Amino acid sequence: MPNRFSWSWGQDGGPGAAVLGDITGRRVADLGAGAARHAAHLAVHHRPAHVVAVDASPAQHAMSSDLYGHLASRLRLVHCDVTRHLHAATGTYDVLYSVFGAVEFTEPRELLPAAASALRPGGRLAFSTLAHHLGGAPAHPAVQHTEIGVRTPDGEVAGMRRWVLQEQVWAKLLDEAGFTRISTQTLPGGTGPRAADALLVTAFRTDRSAA
Ligand SMILES: C[S@@+](CC[C@H](N)C(=O)[O-])C[C@H]1O[C@@H](n2cnc3c(N)ncnc32)[C@H](O)[C@@H]1O
Repeated sequence: MPNRFSWSWGQDGGPGAAVLGDITGRRVADLGAGAARHAAHLAVHHRPAHVVAVDASPAQHAMSSDLYGHLASRLRLVHCDVTRHLHAATGTYDVLYSVFGAVEFTEPRELLPAAASALRPGGRLAFSTLAHHLGGAPAHPAVQHTEIGVRTPDGEVAGMRRWVLQEQVWAKLLDEAGFTRISTQTLPGGTGPRAADALLVTAFRTDRSAA
């Protein structure tokens, strides 16, 4: 389990869990949690009501169960597609976050409205995502995915979609999905062939009752 929560591509510094606000007693979910390392860190080092770590991959879910199943009172490990989970959780969460997770691997015009509906009014979404493609090609200036090749656990090459978008594209998508107070910052990724800058995005569900 990491000692520190990091949003950067290299997991080596930058802002930490403070980006989520004070999560004491809050209902939190990690969207595309992988092995649930970040979620376990929050469950152990902070005092949320609970953290729900959602991932669609059977292999990642099995790994998170092996590593962190013993934290079940504070950490719930859910094997499910994130958009499906969010649609079934209207108004449930105070905080949603994603670290290079489902937000960049899922059609954002479906995931972001589902995230807004799963948050209570005023609830917070924070996510880190690639600021440019791995290898250096720029992020897309419109809502467009990139096909990437990945190797499955049994060695086959499969295609996946990744949304690598410029910050103003994310901001427009979030605005259209019902978020406000949208802010972005770039986290430098250092040097080296696999280094990548990250975009850290935070937004809040519109509080319609106050409008
Ligand atoms: C690059 S990994 C990041 C995992 C984790 N956030 C971390 O930082 O270690 C992306 C994860 O998102 C999950 N994922 C992508 N799209 C998803 C979706 N629509 N629903 C659930 N999980 C998804 C994948 O299964 C994968 O485990």
